[in-house]
Amino acid sequence: MNLDQKYPALSDLRAAAKKRIPKFVWEYLISATGSETTPVRNRRQLDKVLFMPSILHGEFEPDTSATLLGERYPLPFGVAPVGMSGLIWPHAERKLATAATAAGLPYTLSTVACQTPESIGPHVDGKGWFQLYAPRAIDVRKDTLKRVRDSGFRTLVVTLDVPVASRRERQTRSGLTHPPALTPRLLAQIAMRPSWALGMARAGRPGMPLIASYTQPKIGLPTTAHIGYLIRTAPDWEYLHWIREAWDGPLVVKGVMQVEDVAGLKAAGVDALWVSNHAGRQFDAAPAVIDVLPAIRQASSLPLIFDGGVSGALDILRARALGADFVMLGAAWHFALAALGTRGPAHLINMLRKDLHANMGQLGLHTLADAKHRLVPD
Ligand SMILES: Cc1cc2nc3c(=O)[nH]c(=O)nc-3n(C[C@H](O)[C@H](O)[C@H](O)COP(=O)(O)O)c2cc1C
Repeated sequence: MNLDQKYPALSDLRAAAKKRIPKFVWEYLISATGSETTPVRNRRQLDKVLFMPSILHGEFEPDTSATLLGERYPLPFGVAPVGMSGLIWPHAERKLATAATAAGLPYTLSTVACQTPESIGPHVDGKGWFQLYAPRAIDVRKDTLKRVRDSGFRTLVVTLDVPVASRRERQTRSGLTHPPALTPRLLAQIAMRPSWALGMARAGRPGMPLIASYTQPKIGLPTTAHIGYLIRTAPDWEYLHWIREAWDGPLVVKGVMQVEDVAGLKAAGVDALWVSNHAGRQFDAAPAVIDVLPAIRQASSLPLIFDGGVSGALDILRARALGADFVMLGAAWHFALAALGTRGPAHLINMLRKDLHANMGQLGLHTLADAKHRLVPD
């Protein structure tokens, strides 16, 4: 099958994925919170960023590489952390880590993934990124960071925009609970998606093994303590300082939206800012990420990572032009995986690469850094 013919755009992968993932899992994947206006706003504001096509540049090969935190990447994007990735598609963590690493791109493992750092570490070539949801108990913090480092993860991403649980009404409506309980309704949805069901039967029931490992008394933690109490807290500045002291590799904070936070984050020794509104999954009245990006760029000399609704190379160029150094995608990788299985992530990478070449050619852009020169002022 010619994948380029059948799936030329992310929207094709999304449509195919929807037919292969059980409904309650699909709702988890695409859910935002409230009336779900934030992802719509992210998209709408991206579409408003225009570039002036530019002529008479002759033949050239655009340079699509990007440098971030001392690493040179052949393409300016990577895999954002997605909790319960392995529920969305069997073995998603391993498949995405392998595909991203093979293409020289960063893969971020979530704290609440279906695989441990130890099982994914061998697939990230010593260059993995690990996303931390702040553990409250100090023993858990120390042990998690040690395990992450020992498993081959180099860059720590601390997510700060989940101080409390999100309501995510769509997800609740779909019948998905934590942990997922297999009600007759969910079983009926699974029965309608045989490739997912078969893959999941082979992979085993998805869980959150990193967190589960701390609910047992392995490292001397009190067994009676409430799991949530041990595992999750709402970090403050003091917590961030502790993390900075404890992690000797690159430290990224995710969920930065406020320009007022930038100076403090830099002073705290953070190495890069991940500008994100969590794709609207946490809060429904946030500005579009692309709208806050220029002010954060202006206020900060740190590298900036952008995410939220990126669906093609034009969005990558838009983010670059307005100040981002790098772009991450979350849901898109899972659309690719569910649509095409193991071939999906590589196809998505190819699609974005070709799209970058096409758009950089139209704009006469030799490098990504030149994108800002073609912006149409609004
Ligand atoms: C199903 C799902 C689960 C997610 N889980 C996490 C998570 O565990 N940790 C985190 O920092 N962000 C999480 N995110 C947010 C992503 O890292 C990222 O910010 C967002 O998906 C980017 O938007 P996009 O999906 O439109 O590319 C999740 C996103 C999705 C779609």
